[in-house]
Amino acid sequence: MPQPLIERYRDTLPLEPGDPVVSLNEGSTPLVEAPRLSERVGARVWLKVEGANPTGSFKDRGMTVAVSRAAGRGAKAVICASTGNTSASAAAYSVRAGMTCAVIVPEGKIAIGKLAQALIHGARVIAIEGNFDDALVMVRDLSERHPIELVNSVNPYRIEGQKTAAFELIDELGTAPDALAIPVGNAGNVTAYWKGFQEREASPILYGFQAAGASPLVNGAPVANPETIASAIRIGSPARWEEAMNAFNTSRGRVQAVTDDQILDAYHWLASNEGVFCEPASAASVAGILTHGLPVVDGMAKPETIVCVLTGHGLKDPDTALGKAPAVITCANDIRVVEQAVFD
Ligand code: F0G
Repeated sequence: MPQPLIERYRDTLPLEPGDPVVSLNEGSTPLVEAPRLSERVGARVWLKVEGANPTGSFKDRGMTVAVSRAAGRGAKAVICASTGNTSASAAAYSVRAGMTCAVIVPEGKIAIGKLAQALIHGARVIAIEGNFDDALVMVRDLSERHPIELVNSVNPYRIEGQKTAAFELIDELGTAPDALAIPVGNAGNVTAYWKGFQEREASPILYGFQAAGASPLVNGAPVANPETIASAIRIGSPARWEEAMNAFNTSRGRVQAVTDDQILDAYHWLASNEGVFCEPASAASVAGILTHGLPVVDGMAKPETIVCVLTGHGLKDPDTALGKAPAVITCANDIRVVEQAVFD
């Protein structure tokens, strides 16, 4: 039986003794070696398949801890802003905890699978004519004025839960990888990985990647109207800006941009060459190292091992997959015609 991450890493988590464990057996996700990608990049590359978490993204790591602590405090309701995955995760964990859940999302900018998840779990889904950054301002305000727990990654328990992914990498590889490639949106996850590595006295080079149309950290200024096909990271004003930049600088890494075309090419390439189907935002980590290589500061050795974090499952966003993949071959109900279609 897989162990919930709260049990696996309990000593490192700031839960109170009386807190219930609100869990769907998250964490302990596959670390899959990627031989073809390794060849292209010139280093040994692994994929951390976070889409294997219960709701299909890394958010479950933070949500189990945030909702367990909220339950310990007697909370009855949670709220979040979301580009989709946080809402799916909050909706599922609030059901487990017997709480209600409200989510605020940018209208028309959420992948269909994520919306389906939030709705089927019974969350109240409110779509605004605005973007994620607008929604985050609203939920911060609402959670200050009402007895409702904010479960975005501004909640420190989210970061605590998500740092366990770094522990898993070290435990599985026997040591930290030389480098980590990770997509960056609100910048909670890179903050969490860095915290996890620091707690284990490890210091891999962190390469962060933002979509070119939503790259405030790369530009050094917020983006008022972020745009990208990778809707999960369509964010113009990351909440964990300072922490993320500190992580990139201290690790002697950097944050760089990748275009939507580069993201989609990496997304399609991974599915058709490594057999791993992640969502578009996740593919930013792979697009990043394919586009920019593995740059190092003067005097540092080039990384020989690198983990790409694939943050969410490809099934979250079937529309993008169908738009990128070849078409279905329709055929008459006739063996000869089908035979031709199969072997042509
Ligand atoms: N990848 C995926 C699939 C995501 O859903 C997110 C964030 C990120 C990467 C970026 O992580 O924000 O910690 O830098 N999704 C949030 C959400 C914003 O609402 O689901 P980050």
